[in-house]
Amino acid sequence: MVAPQLFDNHGRPITYLRLAVTDRCNLRCFYCMPEEGIKYLPKKELLTFEEIERLITLTASMGISKIRLTGGEPFVRTDLMNLIRKMVSINGIKDVHLTTNGILTTPHIEVLKSLGIASVNLSLDTLDRERFKMITRRDEFEKTWDTLLQLIKHDVPVKINAVVMDGKNIEDILPMVELTKSHPVSVRFIEEMPFNGGESHYDLLPWTFKKIMAHIQVHYPSMIKLQDEAHSTSYNYQVPGYKGNVGVIAAFSRTFCGTCNRIRVTAQGVLKTCLYDDGVLNIKTLMREGRTDEEIRIELLKAFSSRPKNGFEAEEQRKSGAPVMESMSTIGG
Ligand code: 5AD
Ligand code: SF4
Repeated sequence: MVAPQLFDNHGRPITYLRLAVTDRCNLRCFYCMPEEGIKYLPKKELLTFEEIERLITLTASMGISKIRLTGGEPFVRTDLMNLIRKMVSINGIKDVHLTTNGILTTPHIEVLKSLGIASVNLSLDTLDRERFKMITRRDEFEKTWDTLLQLIKHDVPVKINAVVMDGKNIEDILPMVELTKSHPVSVRFIEEMPFNGGESHYDLLPWTFKKIMAHIQVHYPSMIKLQDEAHSTSYNYQVPGYKGNVGVIAAFSRTFCGTCNRIRVTAQGVLKTCLYDDGVLNIKTLMREGRTDEEIRIELLKAFSSRPKNGFEAEEQRKSGAPVMESMSTIGG
Protein backbone atom coordinates (compact mmCIF):
# COMPACT_ATOMS: atom_id res chain seq x y z
CA MET A 1 0.00 0.00 0.00
CA VAL A 2 1.35 3.43 -0.87
CA ALA A 3 1.15 5.82 2.08
CA PRO A 4 -0.92 8.98 1.60
CA GLN A 5 1.30 12.00 1.07
CA LEU A 6 1.28 14.60 3.79
CA PHE A 7 1.60 18.28 3.09
CA ASP A 8 2.21 20.95 5.68
CA ASN A 9 0.31 24.23 6.04
CA HIS A 10 2.59 25.78 3.38
CA GLY A 11 1.96 23.04 0.81
CA ARG A 12 5.33 21.36 1.36
CA PRO A 13 5.35 17.54 1.30
CA ILE A 14 6.86 15.93 4.39
CA THR A 15 8.86 12.90 3.35
CA TYR A 16 12.12 13.00 5.27
CA LEU A 17 12.75 12.30 8.95
CA ARG A 18 16.08 12.90 10.66
CA LEU A 19 16.36 10.97 13.87
CA ALA A 20 19.04 11.50 16.51
CA VAL A 21 19.75 8.12 18.10
CA THR A 22 21.90 9.57 20.88
CA ASP A 23 23.06 12.95 22.14
CA ARG A 24 26.47 11.52 23.09
CA CYS A 25 29.59 11.98 21.05
CA ASN A 26 33.22 10.89 21.09
CA LEU A 27 34.42 14.20 19.61
CA ARG A 28 34.01 17.76 20.88
CA CYS A 29 33.77 19.83 17.70
CA PHE A 30 33.83 23.34 19.00
CA TYR A 31 30.99 24.48 16.69
CA CYS A 32 28.80 21.83 18.30
CA MET A 33 29.77 21.44 21.96
CA PRO A 34 31.78 23.17 24.64
CA GLU A 35 35.10 21.55 25.55
CA GLU A 36 33.73 19.91 28.70
CA GLY A 37 30.86 18.43 26.66
CA ILE A 38 27.17 18.90 27.35
CA LYS A 39 25.02 17.39 30.06
CA TYR A 40 24.01 14.11 28.46
CA LEU A 41 20.56 12.64 28.82
CA PRO A 42 20.16 9.72 31.21
CA LYS A 43 19.73 6.54 29.12
CA LYS A 44 16.10 6.14 30.11
CA GLU A 45 15.32 9.48 28.47
CA LEU A 46 16.41 8.22 25.05
CA LEU A 47 13.85 6.66 22.75
CA THR A 48 14.26 2.88 22.99
CA PHE A 49 14.75 0.87 19.78
CA GLU A 50 11.15 -0.36 20.13
CA GLU A 51 9.90 3.22 20.39
CA ILE A 52 12.00 4.23 17.39
CA GLU A 53 10.64 1.35 15.35
CA ARG A 54 7.10 2.27 16.31
CA LEU A 55 7.70 5.90 15.41
CA ILE A 56 9.22 5.12 12.03
CA THR A 57 6.50 2.61 11.17
CA LEU A 58 3.88 5.19 12.08
CA THR A 59 5.46 8.06 10.15
CA ALA A 60 6.13 5.79 7.16
CA SER A 61 2.38 5.13 7.06
CA MET A 62 1.95 8.93 6.85
CA GLY A 63 4.32 9.43 3.91
CA ILE A 64 7.85 9.49 5.33
CA SER A 65 10.04 7.51 2.94
CA LYS A 66 13.54 8.72 3.79
CA ILE A 67 15.31 8.49 7.14
CA ARG A 68 18.62 9.79 8.33
CA LEU A 69 20.10 8.48 11.57
CA THR A 70 22.17 11.15 13.27
CA GLY A 71 23.35 12.04 16.75
CA GLY A 72 25.52 12.90 18.58
CA GLU A 73 27.56 10.19 17.03
CA PRO A 74 25.23 7.33 16.06
CA PHE A 75 27.89 4.64 16.57
CA VAL A 76 28.21 5.61 20.23
CA ARG A 77 24.77 4.04 20.70
CA THR A 78 25.07 0.34 21.53
CA ASP A 79 23.77 -1.99 18.81
CA LEU A 80 23.28 0.73 16.23
CA MET A 81 23.62 -1.83 13.44
CA ASN A 82 20.63 -3.75 14.79
CA LEU A 83 18.60 -0.59 14.63
CA ILE A 84 19.69 0.04 11.03
CA ARG A 85 18.74 -3.53 10.17
CA LYS A 86 15.25 -2.82 11.48
CA MET A 87 14.98 0.55 9.73
CA VAL A 88 15.76 -0.78 6.26
CA SER A 89 12.99 -3.36 6.53
CA ILE A 90 10.16 -1.02 7.53
CA ASN A 91 7.40 -0.86 4.95
CA GLY A 92 7.46 2.44 3.06
CA ILE A 93 11.02 3.40 4.01
CA LYS A 94 12.92 3.61 0.73
CA ASP A 95 16.22 5.13 1.86
CA VAL A 96 18.11 5.00 5.11
CA HIS A 97 21.04 7.42 5.42
CA LEU A 98 23.55 7.95 8.16
CA THR A 99 25.60 10.89 9.42
CA THR A 100 28.75 9.92 11.30
CA ASN A 101 32.08 11.36 12.36
CA GLY A 102 33.79 8.17 11.16
CA ILE A 103 35.66 7.36 14.35
CA LEU A 104 33.90 4.05 15.04
CA THR A 105 32.52 3.43 11.57
CA THR A 106 35.05 1.35 9.58
CA PRO A 107 34.25 -2.08 11.07
CA HIS A 108 30.63 -1.69 9.95
CA ILE A 109 31.04 -0.51 6.37
CA GLU A 110 30.62 -3.89 4.68
CA VAL A 111 27.43 -4.61 6.57
CA LEU A 112 26.13 -1.10 5.93
CA LYS A 113 26.69 -1.71 2.24
CA SER A 114 24.99 -5.11 2.34
CA LEU A 115 22.00 -3.59 4.13
CA GLY A 116 21.66 -1.12 1.28
CA ILE A 117 22.50 2.07 3.15
CA ALA A 118 21.62 4.87 0.72
CA SER A 119 24.48 7.18 1.65
CA VAL A 120 26.78 8.21 4.45
CA ASN A 121 27.53 11.80 5.41
CA LEU A 122 30.91 12.06 7.02
CA SER A 123 31.70 15.04 9.24
CA LEU A 124 35.16 16.19 8.24
CA ASP A 125 36.11 19.85 8.40
CA THR A 126 39.77 19.68 7.50
CA LEU A 127 42.34 17.51 5.73
CA ASP A 128 45.03 18.49 8.21
CA ARG A 129 45.66 16.42 11.31
CA GLU A 130 46.60 19.36 13.52
CA ARG A 131 43.57 21.39 12.51
CA PHE A 132 41.36 18.32 13.02
CA LYS A 133 42.71 18.11 16.55
CA MET A 134 42.06 21.77 17.16
CA ILE A 135 38.52 21.69 15.76
CA THR A 136 37.33 18.40 17.28
CA ARG A 137 39.54 18.56 20.40
CA ARG A 138 40.55 14.95 19.74
CA ASP A 139 43.50 13.52 17.81
CA GLU A 140 41.51 11.14 15.60
CA PHE A 141 41.99 12.42 12.05
CA GLU A 142 43.31 9.10 10.69
CA LYS A 143 40.19 7.19 11.71
CA THR A 144 37.85 9.57 9.91
CA TRP A 145 40.11 9.66 6.88
CA ASP A 146 40.25 5.86 6.79
CA THR A 147 36.47 5.73 6.99
CA LEU A 148 36.29 8.02 3.97
CA LEU A 149 38.60 5.78 1.94
CA GLN A 150 36.77 2.62 2.99
CA LEU A 151 33.36 4.05 2.12
CA ILE A 152 34.65 4.98 -1.32
CA LYS A 153 36.25 1.55 -1.74
CA HIS A 154 32.95 -0.14 -0.91
CA ASP A 155 31.02 2.12 -3.29
CA VAL A 156 28.91 3.66 -0.58
CA PRO A 157 27.79 7.12 -1.78
CA VAL A 158 29.55 9.56 0.51
CA LYS A 159 29.20 13.22 1.27
CA ILE A 160 31.65 15.16 3.39
CA ASN A 161 30.11 17.74 5.72
CA ALA A 162 32.60 20.54 6.27
CA VAL A 163 31.54 23.43 8.49
CA VAL A 164 33.32 26.59 7.34
CA MET A 165 34.78 28.49 10.27
CA ASP A 166 36.51 31.83 10.15
CA GLY A 167 40.09 31.58 11.36
CA LYS A 168 39.90 27.79 11.70
CA ASN A 169 39.69 25.95 8.37
CA ILE A 170 39.48 28.48 5.54
CA GLU A 171 42.77 27.10 4.21
CA ASP A 172 41.01 23.74 3.78
CA ILE A 173 38.38 24.96 1.35
CA LEU A 174 40.47 24.69 -1.82
CA PRO A 175 42.18 21.38 -0.91
CA MET A 176 38.76 19.93 -0.21
CA VAL A 177 37.53 21.03 -3.62
CA GLU A 178 40.66 19.43 -5.06
CA LEU A 179 39.80 16.19 -3.26
CA THR A 180 36.87 15.84 -5.68
CA LYS A 181 39.32 15.56 -8.58
CA SER A 182 40.22 11.96 -7.91
CA HIS A 183 37.60 10.92 -5.35
CA PRO A 184 33.91 10.41 -6.19
CA VAL A 185 32.69 12.32 -3.15
CA SER A 186 30.43 15.23 -2.67
CA VAL A 187 32.07 17.86 -0.46
CA ARG A 188 29.53 20.14 1.13
CA PHE A 189 30.61 23.35 2.78
CA ILE A 190 28.18 24.32 5.53
CA GLU A 191 27.64 27.77 6.97
CA GLU A 192 28.41 27.71 10.66
CA MET A 193 25.28 27.92 12.79
CA PRO A 194 25.09 29.03 16.43
CA PHE A 195 24.18 25.51 17.65
CA ASN A 196 27.25 25.06 19.79
CA GLY A 197 25.95 24.56 23.30
CA GLY A 198 26.30 28.23 24.15
CA GLU A 199 29.92 28.97 23.31
CA SER A 200 29.75 31.90 20.96
CA HIS A 201 27.62 33.87 18.56
CA TYR A 202 28.46 35.94 15.52
CA ASP A 203 26.69 39.20 14.95
CA LEU A 204 27.40 38.75 11.27
CA LEU A 205 28.36 35.41 9.78
CA PRO A 206 31.82 35.91 8.23
CA TRP A 207 31.62 32.99 5.78
CA THR A 208 28.22 32.97 4.13
CA PHE A 209 27.49 30.47 1.35
CA LYS A 210 27.93 33.30 -1.16
CA LYS A 211 31.36 34.15 0.15
CA ILE A 212 32.40 30.48 0.22
CA MET A 213 31.31 30.05 -3.40
CA ALA A 214 32.96 33.27 -4.52
CA HIS A 215 36.21 32.13 -2.91
CA ILE A 216 36.03 28.80 -4.71
CA GLN A 217 35.11 30.32 -8.06
CA VAL A 218 38.12 32.62 -8.07
CA HIS A 219 40.31 29.53 -8.06
CA TYR A 220 38.05 27.33 -10.17
CA PRO A 221 36.54 29.67 -12.77
CA SER A 222 35.50 26.74 -14.97
CA MET A 223 33.28 25.28 -12.27
CA ILE A 224 29.78 24.50 -13.52
CA LYS A 225 26.47 24.60 -11.68
CA LEU A 226 24.77 21.22 -11.41
CA GLN A 227 21.03 20.69 -11.37
CA ASP A 228 20.09 20.47 -7.68
CA GLU A 229 17.82 17.64 -6.60
CA ALA A 230 14.31 18.52 -5.43
CA HIS A 231 14.37 19.51 -1.72
CA SER A 232 18.14 19.81 -1.81
CA THR A 233 19.60 22.04 0.88
CA SER A 234 22.81 22.49 -1.10
CA TYR A 235 23.69 24.41 -4.24
CA ASN A 236 25.88 22.02 -6.18
CA TYR A 237 28.79 22.53 -8.55
CA GLN A 238 31.44 20.52 -10.33
CA VAL A 239 34.83 21.19 -11.78
CA PRO A 240 34.68 19.74 -15.31
CA GLY A 241 36.43 16.37 -15.43
CA TYR A 242 36.48 15.93 -11.64
CA LYS A 243 34.98 12.74 -10.22
CA GLY A 244 33.18 14.32 -7.30
CA ASN A 245 31.27 17.52 -6.78
CA VAL A 246 31.02 20.43 -4.41
CA GLY A 247 28.04 21.93 -2.61
CA VAL A 248 27.37 24.85 -0.32
CA ILE A 249 24.68 24.74 2.35
CA ALA A 250 23.12 27.99 3.51
CA ALA A 251 22.37 26.55 6.93
CA PHE A 252 22.44 29.94 8.61
CA SER A 253 21.18 32.11 5.74
CA ARG A 254 18.28 29.67 5.34
CA THR A 255 17.55 30.06 1.65
CA PHE A 256 16.08 26.57 1.23
CA CYS A 257 13.10 26.66 3.60
CA GLY A 258 10.58 27.02 0.74
CA THR A 259 11.13 23.43 -0.33
CA CYS A 260 11.82 21.90 3.08
CA ASN A 261 10.47 18.35 3.29
CA ARG A 262 12.11 17.39 6.57
CA ILE A 263 11.26 16.95 10.20
CA ARG A 264 13.52 16.01 13.08
CA VAL A 265 13.16 13.87 16.15
CA THR A 266 15.71 14.50 18.89
CA ALA A 267 17.40 11.78 20.92
CA GLN A 268 14.86 12.36 23.68
CA GLY A 269 11.94 11.89 21.32
CA VAL A 270 10.94 15.49 20.73
CA LEU A 271 9.59 16.45 17.31
CA LYS A 272 11.02 19.52 15.63
CA THR A 273 9.33 20.65 12.44
CA CYS A 274 12.22 23.07 11.85
CA LEU A 275 15.86 22.96 12.90
CA TYR A 276 15.43 26.41 14.45
CA ASP A 277 12.34 25.67 16.58
CA ASP A 278 12.72 24.46 20.16
CA GLY A 279 10.60 21.36 19.92
CA VAL A 280 6.91 21.18 19.14
CA LEU A 281 5.77 17.77 20.40
CA ASN A 282 7.12 15.24 22.88
CA ILE A 283 6.49 11.93 21.13
CA LYS A 284 8.24 9.88 23.79
CA THR A 285 5.86 11.17 26.47
CA LEU A 286 2.86 10.31 24.30
CA MET A 287 4.16 6.80 23.80
CA ARG A 288 5.00 6.30 27.46
CA GLU A 289 1.56 7.58 28.49
CA GLY A 290 0.17 4.67 26.50
CA ARG A 291 -1.38 6.65 23.64
CA THR A 292 -2.52 4.64 20.61
CA ASP A 293 -0.97 5.01 17.15
CA GLU A 294 -4.11 6.82 16.04
CA GLU A 295 -3.81 9.35 18.88
CA ILE A 296 -0.16 9.97 18.11
CA ARG A 297 -0.94 10.31 14.41
CA ILE A 298 -3.44 13.07 15.23
CA GLU A 299 -0.86 14.95 17.31
CA LEU A 300 1.71 14.63 14.51
CA LEU A 301 -0.79 15.94 11.99
CA LYS A 302 -1.49 18.96 14.20
CA ALA A 303 2.22 19.71 14.39
CA PHE A 304 2.68 19.29 10.63
CA SER A 305 -0.16 21.67 9.92
CA SER A 306 1.28 24.47 12.02
CA ARG A 307 4.83 24.52 10.72
CA PRO A 308 6.58 27.88 10.60
CA LYS A 309 7.20 28.94 7.01
CA ASN A 310 10.95 29.23 7.48
CA GLY A 311 13.78 29.07 9.96
CA PHE A 312 13.48 32.75 10.83
CA GLU A 313 9.82 32.40 11.80
CA ALA A 314 10.66 29.22 13.75
CA GLU A 315 13.35 31.09 15.65
CA GLU A 316 10.94 33.92 16.51
CA GLN A 317 8.33 31.46 17.74
CA ARG A 318 10.62 29.62 20.15
CA LYS A 319 8.70 29.16 23.36
CA SER A 320 11.76 29.63 25.48
CA GLY A 321 12.29 33.11 24.03
CA ALA A 322 16.01 32.33 24.06
CA PRO A 323 18.14 32.50 20.93
CA VAL A 324 19.38 29.27 19.35
CA MET A 325 22.38 27.96 21.23
CA GLU A 326 21.64 24.34 22.11
CA SER A 327 24.19 21.79 20.95
CA MET A 328 23.67 20.28 17.52
CA SER A 329 24.37 17.00 19.24
CA THR A 330 21.11 17.18 21.17
CA ILE A 331 19.12 18.40 18.20
CA GLY A 332 20.41 15.88 15.71
CA GLY A 333 22.75 17.25 13.05
N1 5AD B 1 26.90 24.68 12.32
C1 5AD B 1 26.82 24.01 11.14
N2 5AD B 1 26.80 22.67 11.03
C2 5AD B 1 26.90 21.99 12.17
N3 5AD B 1 26.92 20.68 12.39
C3 5AD B 1 27.03 20.47 13.72
N4 5AD B 1 27.06 21.63 14.37
C4 5AD B 1 26.99 22.60 13.43
C5 5AD B 1 26.98 24.02 13.48
N5 5AD B 1 27.07 24.68 14.63
C6 5AD B 1 26.87 19.68 11.33
C7 5AD B 1 28.21 19.05 11.09
C8 5AD B 1 28.00 17.61 11.24
C9 5AD B 1 26.51 17.44 11.31
C10 5AD B 1 26.17 16.38 12.28
O1 5AD B 1 26.00 18.66 11.74
O2 5AD B 1 28.59 19.26 9.77
O3 5AD B 1 28.46 16.93 10.09
FE1 SF4 C 1 30.28 15.01 17.66
FE2 SF4 C 1 29.25 15.65 15.32
FE3 SF4 C 1 29.03 17.34 17.38
FE4 SF4 C 1 31.41 16.87 16.26
S1 SF4 C 1 29.60 17.83 15.28
S2 SF4 C 1 30.95 16.94 18.48
S3 SF4 C 1 31.28 14.78 15.66
S4 SF4 C 1 28.07 15.37 17.22
